[in-house]
Amino acid sequence: MTILLTGGAGFIGSHTYVALTQAGHEAVIVDNFYNSSQEVISRLQTITGKAVPYYDVDVCDHHALDQVFQKHSFDAVIHFAGYKAVGESVGMPIEYYRNNLDSTLTLCEVMRERGVNRIVFSSSATVYGMTDDMPLKETMSSGGCTNPYGWTKYMIEQILRDVADANPSWAVALLRYFNPIGAHESGLIGEDPVGLPNNLMPFITQVASGKLKELNIFGNDYPTPDGTGIRDYIHVVDLAQGHLDACAYLMAHTGCEVFNLGTGVGYSVLDMVHTFERVNNVTVPFHIAPRRPGDIARCFADPSKAEKLLGWKAHKSLEDMCIDAWRWQSLNPNGYATV
Ligand code: UD1
Repeated sequence: MTILLTGGAGFIGSHTYVALTQAGHEAVIVDNFYNSSQEVISRLQTITGKAVPYYDVDVCDHHALDQVFQKHSFDAVIHFAGYKAVGESVGMPIEYYRNNLDSTLTLCEVMRERGVNRIVFSSSATVYGMTDDMPLKETMSSGGCTNPYGWTKYMIEQILRDVADANPSWAVALLRYFNPIGAHESGLIGEDPVGLPNNLMPFITQVASGKLKELNIFGNDYPTPDGTGIRDYIHVVDLAQGHLDACAYLMAHTGCEVFNLGTGVGYSVLDMVHTFERVNNVTVPFHIAPRRPGDIARCFADPSKAEKLLGWKAHKSLEDMCIDAWRWQSLNPNGYATV
């Protein structure tokens, strides 16, 4: 398969590039490097041993994107590109809606003009909103998102569903990620958040490395066994494989399908801290802080649909996630920045 990866230099996109290339497929990256580094490209070249086809193009730029489609004959597109910071989205809703929706619509227009009709979309479990009903199944209702970022995922899902309805030859897979963490085992690519990390794992790795003083655990009074929030953490390498399997599925099916990509197992914040300390032999000082607005007590997937239809399932353990995240942090104390 020849696959276009929009946002292919990002955290999940870069791991998917490796998975596709190592499985013998041709992957082409489009990224404007707004929230990613050009250094990713050379790291990908080191891992795969091959030149990386990439274009410094904004997906909202119809003409530039069309030129990429003229140069390659894509079998499918995996659409990762988009703004992704939950907190930032609350203060910048116009930018979030404009960028995330515009890029998707532009991509769909170019795909239609160039006769490419298979798309995998990077969605999120956040579209399930604030429900207590666990595990989350694809048949459950979505909506009630708690921030503009989440709403853009919800709206893009709807746009792609409508596109598939109107064009019976189209094939769409909406992948709802749970909590992607970890890094490639080479330690060459990983998550490189801008500024203070918002998500748990990058915060833990920066505390363990001494860059940050301590972790704030947002609440220990949730109705969970140890009182801290429970999430379905998934290794980014397992997640990347899910994209390959989704592309293969779209080669043989039309219409629109939604898939949860999670492990089906939830771990608490304290489970995570203690596992990280144990497997990496480091300490992660923490203190208990107030709950973070918008957080729910528990969130984990029923991933059985992906196993049944895609033949996909997560294999890596929480220990693997902690070891690989720490290797990435230790080898790259400043992420992709050289200083
Ligand atoms: C968040 C987003 C989700 C996004 C995902 C990306 C919300 C409501 N959800 O999920 O849309 O797709 O990130 O991975 O914002 N925690 C701490 N201290 C910290 C950071 C986190 O205790 O410094 C706790 C949280 O309260 C939560 C758990 O760790 O219980 C995981 O938090 P996080 O990594 O931010 O992910 P989510 O909030 O689940």
